[in-house]
Amino acid sequence: MLKYVSENIRRLVPYSQGKPIEELERDLGIKEAIKLASNENPLGASRRALEAVERYLNRLHRYPDGGGFYLRGAIARKWGVSPDAVVLGNGSNEIIELLIRTFMSPGDNAVVSENTFSVYRLIVTAANGNVTTVPMKAGRYQLEKMGEGISPKTRLVFISNPNNPTGTIVTASEVRDFMNNIPEDVLVVFDEAYAEYVTSGEYPSSIDYLREGRPVAILRTFSKIYGLAGLRIGYGLTPVEISEMLNRVRQPFNTNALAQAAALAALEDVEHVEKSRRVNQEGKGFLYKEFESMGIAYLPTEANFIYFQAGDDGKVLFDAMLKEGVIIRHIGGPNLRVTIGLPEENRRFTEALRKVLDK
Ligand SMILES: Cc1ncc(COP(=O)(O)O)c(C=O)c1O
Repeated sequence: MLKYVSENIRRLVPYSQGKPIEELERDLGIKEAIKLASNENPLGASRRALEAVERYLNRLHRYPDGGGFYLRGAIARKWGVSPDAVVLGNGSNEIIELLIRTFMSPGDNAVVSENTFSVYRLIVTAANGNVTTVPMKAGRYQLEKMGEGISPKTRLVFISNPNNPTGTIVTASEVRDFMNNIPEDVLVVFDEAYAEYVTSGEYPSSIDYLREGRPVAILRTFSKIYGLAGLRIGYGLTPVEISEMLNRVRQPFNTNALAQAAALAALEDVEHVEKSRRVNQEGKGFLYKEFESMGIAYLPTEANFIYFQAGDDGKVLFDAMLKEGVIIRHIGGPNLRVTIGLPEENRRFTEALRKVLDK
């Protein structure tokens, strides 16, 4: 059968999953490892979301509401758009996949930046599309160059804003220039998985482009600040004619009932979001100071993780941190990423870092 697998798929490098934390602890003979590797909310989910899940348990024998009526309604009210503009996904990852499956035929092209969320490339390649990769400058997207990378074959442009893994943003004026200079028939995907953590006043309001009727898809997720990564739920906001197409492609029951119930309750728990933002802000300040006192280079972040460099070989440092029971992410070369955790987790991280770097 393998002869039928396309070259594109043969060449794919699978998304790196990592081992379950319990297995790592057993392998390394360590206890109470902490995971600062996947940009999850260290406070966990909102209590109200957990209660909504519990309340739902006696209905698990029923199929979920395939149309996501209540959740789409609540999201639509939050953004002031029609519920028909909202598409729910099994994580925002699924919306990325739906966009690619809907709009790209084999040989079509998508424009992405270097050093960004790897799933864009993975799914475009699996769909036998081609990826144009535009270099970054100082850890930031070069939107002008991404515009120049668009060809008649380009269907999608992916903008992770803030960008995973660098934590940088593209600004409102950069996006305005970009949008003014690209063809009308290219769909721009604003992946805003970390938007709730942004503090910069220059962050663009991508919803304005949707209101202007431009072909955009705005992706949001319940996996990050809402603390529901394990339930897999996210959504896309798009012009209605686009969401109607995505809804033809998606599976009828793509988001599960517990996820819908939890997300609905989480949306209403504004205090939990506020608290999560505050904890992140404080952790960020602490980690910046610690990095500076150790002489470690890092990029100021607009998200809940920090991109940093220590030494020449990030993998060696990653492995040494693992032995200390601190799981971070090696991005490549000297580059690493740490998720901002609870105060005690941030302290464990910096103590381990001082130890392995002998600082
Ligand atoms: C930029 C970006 N987009 C999307 C996602 C996927 O989130 P979800 O859990 O909603 O699929 C992530 C997760 O790490 C991310 O970093």
